[in-house]
Amino acid sequence: MGQDKIQKLPKESSAEMRFLVMPEHTNPQNSIFGGVVMSWIDMAAAMVAERHSGRPVVTVHVDDISFKAPIKIGDHVLVKASVNYVGRTSMLVGVKVIAENPFTGISRHTTTAYLTFVALDDIGRPISICKLVPETEAEKRRYIQGEKRMLEVKKRNAEKLKEDEKLKG
Ligand SMILES: CC(C)(COP(=O)(O)OP(=O)(O)OC[C@H]1O[C@@H](n2cnc3c(N)ncnc32)[C@H](O)[C@@H]1OP(=O)(O)O)[C@@H](O)C(=O)NCCC(=O)NCCS
Repeated sequence: MGQDKIQKLPKESSAEMRFLVMPEHTNPQNSIFGGVVMSWIDMAAAMVAERHSGRPVVTVHVDDISFKAPIKIGDHVLVKASVNYVGRTSMLVGVKVIAENPFTGISRHTTTAYLTFVALDDIGRPISICKLVPETEAEKRRYIQGEKRMLEVKKRNAEKLKEDEKLKG
């Protein structure tokens, strides 16, 4: 879908998914396991990256997940994801998680995460993807922040690689 396009708007691939928190998602305190939220984030973000690139994708980096408020059994969880920035073969997807109590209508922003995906060709090598054209003011702000974030991740990865090489001797 859309693999032949040379550019896309964020809204062409963005997604919203909803989940109901069931007993199997929770710990003995009836709060959700962090790993369950992380898998929902990864799934929503991967679908967005596939819609943008029109290719199968793999997660290569997950940045900055923190849980600001508990999500309870029975809550509705809204996972909103959109492409924030695009490199040559990689995409930075921003994800916002909102927990809603369906009876009171009270909602809480619980988590924000940034994931990097790489689009793959038919034999599993990175393949170049279409550009992203931010349209709204918020999208333009996310695009600029996304570029900075991607550069920081690349810098951190390079530093870590150097440290690992040093440790190996
Ligand atoms: C995806 C994969 C094939 C890319 O191979 P690679 O040798 O790193 O390829 P490259 O060095 O050409 O990098 C490709 C792109 O990914 C980016 N990238 C690679 N590793 C990254 C990382 N850890 N964090 C952020 N970006 C990364 C590069 O910056 C480059 O981006 P650009 O083309 O937009 O400039 C390889 O890293 C892989 O298979 N990883 C495992 C992915 C996986 O299995 N994930 C599932 C979860 S375990």
